[in-house]
Amino acid sequence: MEILGIDIGGSGIKGAPVDIKRGILAADRHRIPTPQPSKPEAVAEVVAEIAKYFEWQGPIGCTFPAVIKDGVVYTAANVDKSWIGANGQKILQKTTGCPVLLLNDADAAGIAEMKFGAGKGHTGVVVVVTLGTGIGTAIFVNGHLIPNTEFGHIEVRGKDAEDRASDRIRKEKNLNWRKYADRVDEFLGRLEALFSPDLFIIGGGVSKKHEKFIPLLHTQAEVVPAQMLNEAGIIGAARAARSLVK
Ligand code: BGC
Repeated sequence: MEILGIDIGGSGIKGAPVDIKRGILAADRHRIPTPQPSKPEAVAEVVAEIAKYFEWQGPIGCTFPAVIKDGVVYTAANVDKSWIGANGQKILQKTTGCPVLLLNDADAAGIAEMKFGAGKGHTGVVVVVTLGTGIGTAIFVNGHLIPNTEFGHIEVRGKDAEDRASDRIRKEKNLNWRKYADRVDEFLGRLEALFSPDLFIIGGGVSKKHEKFIPLLHTQAEVVPAQMLNEAGIIGAARAARSLVK
């Protein structure tokens, strides 16, 4: 069975129909740059354009980089602040004419990794961390997600963790891999002190270059790169939206 997965990010909005049994894309991704400013109406139009591109009429699973409860957006660290308080799910339902499930982007990526990728079959406490424009987290206990964890915003050295260890900061500050690994290490060390996870899965854009920094980390728990790369959000969102299938 196929569900349309859409990943709303700070720079691009990407979508593809997903074979949710096998966890693979059923067609090539379609990507449209995120409108700036990234206000709800403008973003919703792009989501509708992607649905139209695939002539989609069924359920849609859609990620958003924020806390989402029952479709309502509660935060907006890296998107337009006018999203806060909006029922993003309802807005997308209206513009696409399809049933939509809206969920946090790191949660969606985590769902994909746990079901089809690096976390497959793992029990215990697994922490998925996405390093991108921001830092997203998803925590699984025996395969069950605790939704909307926002550990990218814990304070590290007086700053938001994502303002020290996201991939955006690595690029902005032109950090070499050792310096970047130190920052990621310190962040993971903090999570380890709080949760004693059994496994860390590192996703987000920079996970493509995992061999440059994962070997330099010192956590007690094993750290592995994500396997679904930039398709994790799309696949995880589609998988989560199977609850919409009647
Ligand atoms: C947001 C999270 C999101 C993460 C990754 C953070 O700034 O607060 O909700 O998961 O960025 O996009």
